[in-house]
Amino acid sequence: MIKNICCIGAGYVGGPTMAVIAEKCPSINVTLVDSNHDKISAWNGDLNNLPVYEPGLKKIIKKVRGKNLFFSNEIDKNINKSEMIFIAVNTPTKTSGEGSGMAADLKYVIACAKQIAKASKSDKIVVEKSTLPVRTAEKIKDILCKEGKKGINFEILSNPEFLAEGTAIKDLYNSDRVLIGSDNSPSGLNALRKLIEVYSNWIPISKILTTNVWSAELAKLASNAMLAQRISSINSLSALCDMTGANTLELSRAIGMDKRIGPHFLIPSPGFGGSCFQKDILNLVYLCKFYGLDEIAEYWHQVVKINDYQKERFAKKIINHFGGDLKGKVIKVLGWAFKANTNDSRESPSIYITEKLFNAGAYIQIYDPMVPIENIKADINQYWNFDINTNDKRISFSSNNKINEDIDAVAIITEWDEFKYVDYKSTKVFDGRNILKKPFYSI
Ligand code: UDX
Ligand code: UDX
Repeated sequence: MIKNICCIGAGYVGGPTMAVIAEKCPSINVTLVDSNHDKISAWNGDLNNLPVYEPGLKKIIKKVRGKNLFFSNEIDKNINKSEMIFIAVNTPTKTSGEGSGMAADLKYVIACAKQIAKASKSDKIVVEKSTLPVRTAEKIKDILCKEGKKGINFEILSNPEFLAEGTAIKDLYNSDRVLIGSDNSPSGLNALRKLIEVYSNWIPISKILTTNVWSAELAKLASNAMLAQRISSINSLSALCDMTGANTLELSRAIGMDKRIGPHFLIPSPGFGGSCFQKDILNLVYLCKFYGLDEIAEYWHQVVKINDYQKERFAKKIINHFGGDLKGKVIKVLGWAFKANTNDSRESPSIYITEKLFNAGAYIQIYDPMVPIENIKADINQYWNFDINTNDKRISFSSNNKINEDIDAVAIITEWDEFKYVDYKSTKVFDGRNILKKPFYSI
């Protein structure tokens, strides 16, 4: 039986996942460690200011923090005292070197493997929670065997996380499936049994799917690619709806009622965002190319290309309405988060669309109910190649969704519920999420 779990990476995945494990397994001590000291302080601090906002998370943290859930910067000590170590650090797209712009950057994962090798004085089960290219477990095992102390056994399991932000706790409580990939050796199967024991505290055994390690690693990339593919498919058809007078939402309902297709992930949008979809598809494209499968790579690459097209199409819709130039026009942007019910703006379509509107000359007023203004400013600095501190009069931040007289158009980019109930008066609303009954334009 596992008594101590350590998770490296106290972010959007590590935080909620470990909170639920601690809640459901009171006999296991769970410690989240992170190299970022501010983040650990925030996890240990005010419950209203936790680093991750997820409905239901605060309640769990209140219940288990200090009992069997701990947050710490002492990484080596906690690795050493735990029998099972999850790796949940981020795996961004590489920005330099081979595979730049496509492949996943494994530097943090490799750093974790080295740290586990160095700090471990007893056998460890290492669980890959981060999304990784297929066959990464081999690299991790290599590092652990070469750099770890002699006589210590390391087992690697792949246990990808399928939670979506905004519904993380619900997804963790009630997972469609828990996927665990393991080695077929007796020690691999023993490690597998121990992780199954952890999950079976709340997940029915019929929902725990076991596979080999490579299938589990690839299943995560493939699941995200297929979900994103559905969105790009409906979004591509939204362009045809615009031309023909068909209605995208009606089309989506009509398609989704076919049981063989199903209704999920067919909601048209101004493009998908979030930290995973684009990164994981580009990673898949890179892997296909690596194995010489150029046609397959191109097939999946189209999903990202259509997403870029959709973001651009939505921005152009607004710009073209005003004759191709937004000089002197005031546009209120509603929503900066990549979807509702999260404070996360990673890869949000808002970042890209708002930049286009700004570059076309508009005065921009940005409002989001949850993303802190500091984060919006940081996104602008990072992605627009523009220094927000020059204090350009053309960008301002609103603290509410009110539509003043001076606003020429509204762009709804995130589907926050409150945007359904705003009094838009006669302002032209470009509804990127199909949440209004009769907007001026819906995607
Ligand atoms: C997760 C996954 O792990 C990633 O692979 C997946 O594709 C997306 O979701 P996420 O939890 O969203 O990543 O990332 P983030 O919120 O950035 O959290 C990662 C944490 O790891 C950060 O708090 C960071 O400080 C920490 N970290 C990173 C370390 O502790 N050590 C490192 O070496 C690198
Ligand atoms: C996704 C996967 O759903 C999850 O399983 C995986 O673990 C991580 O990546 P996440 O990115 O948190 O989760 O959110 P998701 O709900 O999948 O939404 C991603 C993006 O797609 C958002 O920008 C959302 O607005 C958009 N989307 C989603 C659509 O445009 N239309 C849809 O029908 C569904």
